[in-house]
Amino acid sequence: MEGHLANRGAGDVAQMKLRVLVACEFSGTVRRAFRALGHDAWSCDLLPAEDGEDVHHYRGDALAMMWGSYWDLMICHPPCTHLAVSGARWFKDKKVEQEHALMFVERLLDGPVDCIALENPISIISSRIRKPDQIIQPWQFGHGETKATCLWLKNLPKLVPTNIVEGREARIHKMPPGPDRWKERSRTFPGIAEAMAQQWSDYIISKHRVAA
Ligand SMILES: C[S@@+](CC[C@H](N)C(=O)[O-])C[C@H]1O[C@@H](n2cnc3c(N)ncnc32)[C@H](O)[C@@H]1O
Repeated sequence: MEGHLANRGAGDVAQMKLRVLVACEFSGTVRRAFRALGHDAWSCDLLPAEDGEDVHHYRGDALAMMWGSYWDLMICHPPCTHLAVSGARWFKDKKVEQEHALMFVERLLDGPVDCIALENPISIISSRIRKPDQIIQPWQFGHGETKATCLWLKNLPKLVPTNIVEGREARIHKMPPGPDRWKERSRTFPGIAEAMAQQWSDYIISKHRVAA
């Protein structure tokens, strides 16, 4: 058995409690989904946690937090402002910002964690780094909305839709301008967070059981 789980104390292994870092998350949505299943999940963002969590939220740089051979799984939501193809008309004016954003993504994807998922909208990550492993939609996970969400996966399976619903509203695109619009647009859908928590923790734990 490779990876950090192999070095875990008997108590943690018996309980199969995973250590999960949710990088670039202010909402706490994915953190809460994993914690609801009993895992040791932390969010990390330059911003404070909007749900008031101050124990399991680290306010600081995810690139620093990911080191230390601690995490079994890292789920990353890096900023898409300079990467999303929906902003292509401004690309020519933000070459430097774009290079920095791509470097940030690369460093997360190359992070020292066995299992990594990185989420972003349709973006230049596909042409500049590599194509995503999967593209999901909120309507596949119980939310009647469209928002193509790409996943880049390391040692993780594709997510299986949990609840395909009828609605196909593009709510996010219709949001009026305002200072918090980006937050509303970037918050992870709870149905997707729950699928990540259930499916990826089941996968990692079952892989560990086979190898033990
Ligand atoms: C697109 S939003 C993701 C929001 C997320 N889906 C959620 O539900 O909270 C990107 C987030 O990355 C954070 N961020 C940017 N650079 C960061 C860094 N170096 N370390 C940690 N967080 C960072 C921003 O503050 C922002 O909240």
